[in-house]
Amino acid sequence: MTSTGTMLLRRLHEQSQTEVMTRARAQFRGSSEEFLTLADEYDTLAPRLRGRFLDSLGLSSEDFESSQGTTLSLAVSAETGSFLRNMVLAHKPARILELGSSCGVSTLYFADALSTLGRGTVVATELDPDKCASLRTHVRTAGVDAYVDLREGDVFQTVAELTGTFDMVFIDVWASAYLSLFKQTERLLQPGSIILADNMYTAEDAVLPYKQYLDDNPRFSTTTLGFESGIEFTVVVA
Ligand SMILES: C[S@@+](CC[C@H](N)C(=O)[O-])C[C@H]1O[C@@H](n2cnc3c(N)ncnc32)[C@H](O)[C@@H]1O
Repeated sequence: MTSTGTMLLRRLHEQSQTEVMTRARAQFRGSSEEFLTLADEYDTLAPRLRGRFLDSLGLSSEDFESSQGTTLSLAVSAETGSFLRNMVLAHKPARILELGSSCGVSTLYFADALSTLGRGTVVATELDPDKCASLRTHVRTAGVDAYVDLREGDVFQTVAELTGTFDMVFIDVWASAYLSLFKQTERLLQPGSIILADNMYTAEDAVLPYKQYLDDNPRFSTTTLGFESGIEFTVVVA
């Protein structure tokens, strides 16, 4: 990553974190002191307990998504981003499909890894035109735009129009859409393709149908990685 790209990512992570905290504070009914105490508690919780903790406070990720969430960046964390980058460096995918790109934070990690490898494309998908404009600016600023193919519009429509196969898929749209979107994406997968899905802990209830579908399907081998928001790591077996 260039120093410009590193600085950009740091700023985007900070912005996203501030947005989420501001939103959570506005939604939280207690005092500022209580809020800060709970924020500290959240940080010390095991990742798999975080979704339930947010639910108990009325701050679930689904509430974020269904209300003002559409305007928030809701970017992956720096830790998750580094994991995505490492997955690309190890698996060397020629084509990555990113479902839910927002302002491009996860896209930047994918594109940075592809630029290190010197080849490959990440197909980014996003509905919101303002977020798409930000994404375009960000990948250009980081100097990785040659590795990004942004498809603006509804992701279901975008996926329906895609052809060929993908070596890696990252699912990070609204959690209630995971299963239906994944079923639509299945025809683009081949043995050895990897599917990563974020928010398995932070949106535990909403993603349950997706998790059950994978667990029950012999075409897939799947496990939940227990860090950050909970990432489902799935490999296409046949
Ligand atoms: C959690 S955010 C993605 C964050 C992004 N991966 C990152 O790390 O910066 C989910 C995104 O999915 C987008 N989204 C939700 N439903 C969509 C749809 N039907 N078509 C396209 N994008 C959609 C939202 O606008 C939102 O920006």
